[in-house]
Amino acid sequence: MIALALYRSVIALAIVSTLAACGNSAPTASGALTTPQTIQPKTYPELVVGFAQIGAESEWRTANTRSIQTTADQLGIELDLSDAQQQQANQIKAIRSFIAQGVDVIGVSPVVETGWDEVFAEVKQAGIPLILLDRSANVPADLYSVRIGSDFVEEGRRACGELARLLDGQGSIVVLEGTQGSAPMLGRGAGFQECLQAYPNLHVLDSQSADFIRARGKEEMAALLQTHGNSIDGVFAQNDDMALGAIEAIEEYGLRPGIDIKIVSIDAVRAAFEAMIAGKLNATIECNPLLGPLFFATALNLANDLPVEKWIKPDEGIYRQDTAAQELPNRLY
Ligand code: AHR
Repeated sequence: MIALALYRSVIALAIVSTLAACGNSAPTASGALTTPQTIQPKTYPELVVGFAQIGAESEWRTANTRSIQTTADQLGIELDLSDAQQQQANQIKAIRSFIAQGVDVIGVSPVVETGWDEVFAEVKQAGIPLILLDRSANVPADLYSVRIGSDFVEEGRRACGELARLLDGQGSIVVLEGTQGSAPMLGRGAGFQECLQAYPNLHVLDSQSADFIRARGKEEMAALLQTHGNSIDGVFAQNDDMALGAIEAIEEYGLRPGIDIKIVSIDAVRAAFEAMIAGKLNATIECNPLLGPLFFATALNLANDLPVEKWIKPDEGIYRQDTAAQELPNRLY
């Protein structure tokens, strides 16, 4: 008898579960029919997002943080924004605290490319979608949902193309590199080297790391001038801030930036346009930091289980001295 009763209740439970799963009405204990709850898609004001930012090393980064903050405010999103002050350990700590809070989506701009597997696996285990915003990470593709950010290799190729044009395909270049081991430093360097193969008379004389920071760009450029003096024909600065620092060093050394030494950099911040108008910077390759709207639109799709592309790239251009004055009023960062 007991076995029969147990069998009957198991069967009844299975029928109710199946009906509920199929979205049909299911009988209650009293026998009345109820309409099952349909899942409502999340809206922006219901979204809780954690974002582990790198820090504030450049004008680009400041514009990126501002874009994320203002978009969250405009859309009414609850945003937990952490500033890692350039430390990977701080970004990892922030991600773990977002997991503990149970946010809907986590975003991170990885300061360097490696060392993420463990914490990203924890995010996956917690079932939280992960967006790599701006910089990429060297991890298996199943450890994150989507990357939103520029093609750094292409930026490097473009910078090389500009310097080759400015130097008529021959001369000695020095490179100011960004944060060692970061995706933009590695990607831009690789794209630059790849494109240089097409210009046998153009070569890299020396490279120094200046961390994407203006003051460091000035310092390293001054040291490069001490070592190589007048034999430098061109500078490839992996961001505008370092180029602006290099301009100061070149002037202090007694040469004319943009004329005696051609300079190409990456980002296209307003100060780069001002330097181009002054004739001191020759070209800048755009890397768009205004990623806030794309970030949250993608976060909402992920929170609602909607499909997203694996790599979303913003449209970006190349800017030169001849159009700088006309473009400056349109610049948003
Ligand atoms: O990751 C994007 C790079 O980081 C920008 O080019 C640079 O300015 C920033 O610090």
